[in-house]
Amino acid sequence: MMNSHDLLQIIKSRRSVMPTQYSEKEITSDELNLILESANWAPNHKRTEPWRFRVIQGEAKKRFAEFMLEKYQETTLPEAQSERKKAGIAEKCMMSDKIILISVKTSHLLPEWEELAATAMAVQNMWLMCTALGIGSYWSSPGTISKMSEFTDLEEDENCYGIFYMGKRKGDLHESSRQPIKNKVQFIES
Ligand SMILES: Cc1cc2nc3c(=O)[nH]c(=O)nc-3n(C[C@H](O)[C@H](O)[C@H](O)COP(=O)(O)O)c2cc1C
Repeated sequence: MMNSHDLLQIIKSRRSVMPTQYSEKEITSDELNLILESANWAPNHKRTEPWRFRVIQGEAKKRFAEFMLEKYQETTLPEAQSERKKAGIAEKCMMSDKIILISVKTSHLLPEWEELAATAMAVQNMWLMCTALGIGSYWSSPGTISKMSEFTDLEEDENCYGIFYMGKRKGDLHESSRQPIKNKVQFIES
């Protein structure tokens, strides 16, 4: 029988961990497989399994950093661009060990929101497995994601919804909090 306390502990200790908090240690292929396998077990209506992932690693990270910089420059007015922001964009990519592009392949068998919801659950599964493995990660959703087909070929009816940065965590997890669940729940009894 699974220990519910351990499960809640992992859920509560999941954090958005930024690339500046990643060490240089590599994520092993066994770890990556566990992360992707976790994602693949997300619930999904009509068994469409709509989540798609592209793992950017090695040399490709540099190409991705260049792409992100280019898009930032294209979409930000020259006077609004900052050197600090540019350095941050490149640093985020290069400090990550692996970067996963999150996308949804729409089946048209159901409302699109259901496939997005299923994919978000797949991401949560990955994120929890990362937490259990001591891997820092977070979901980033800059405007650039709508241009992802300029970085890599997307299939027909496939759209990118996020960038999942990952790296072995150095340092402790930061404290966090949530408003009490009782404020968000109503019991209906009659
Ligand atoms: C769909 C989605 C998109 C997100 N996009 C961003 C983002 O673009 N930039 C960012 O810093 N965090 C992003 N986040 C992370 C949230 O900011 C983060 O989950 C929230 O602050 C709570 O912190 P926690 O993840 O440590 O609990 C995103 C989270 C979700 C679920």
